[in-house]
Amino acid sequence: MLMWHFRLCNVQDVAVFLSITLYLCHLAEAISIYSPQRSLTRSVQDDVMFSVEFNCSGIPTIQWTFMSGAVSRAIGTWQPGVYINITVDYSSRVRLYENGSMSLSHLRLQDGGFYVVTVTDSTGSSKDAGFVLKVNEVLYEDLQYLSVAAVALAFCAGLLMLAMWLLHKACRKIRARRRKKQMPENDATELQPL
Ligand SMILES: *[C@@H]1O[C@H](CO)[C@@H](O)[C@H](O)[C@H]1NC(C)=O
Ligand SMILES: *[C@@H]1O[C@H](CO)[C@@H](O)[C@H](O)[C@H]1NC(C)=O
Repeated sequence: MLMWHFRLCNVQDVAVFLSITLYLCHLAEAISIYSPQRSLTRSVQDDVMFSVEFNCSGIPTIQWTFMSGAVSRAIGTWQPGVYINITVDYSSRVRLYENGSMSLSHLRLQDGGFYVVTVTDSTGSSKDAGFVLKVNEVLYEDLQYLSVAAVALAFCAGLLMLAMWLLHKACRKIRARRRKKQMPENDATELQPL
């Protein structure tokens, strides 16, 4: 009787042990995505790196998607070591990394929006992580350079005008002095024939 009771306890223990193990296995199987930065700001022509790292059992399938307003566009899908499939529009600007990261170079204004990475494991369960990219125009810096150049040009023009005015004045003075000096000689030469 006591023995039987003991066995029952054992069965219960085993059941608890099993369910804990199953739970831990499930946790281990769950996909996790880590990324140091989810919100990025860059300028036109810059490069950007969407840096991620993930945990997943088996060979994962990683997919990057771009979303802006109503537009949703696939950028690339790949299985590390198996295949890489990058959408034609992006093929020259996108690089994909083993850890799931993606870099996009020569940014355009239209690249601003949401980027989603989806990691799918061999059992078909998946997890997403989203990023926000803001792309700024470089107009402000251009304008600043332009205004500095304009001020420098205006200054040079002012200096040139001042120099010309001084030269003109000096010329007139020299000419007047020369005329004064030549006056008596002229008179003499003019008077000679008489
Ligand atoms: C992923 O790999 C890339 C390239 O090796 C690296 O630059 C990046 O920092 C990695 N990301 C993380 C979160 O470790
Ligand atoms: C790559 O993408 C194209 C277009 O999205 C698709 O037709 C093709 O089947 C894909 N290839 C692989 C190996 O997934």
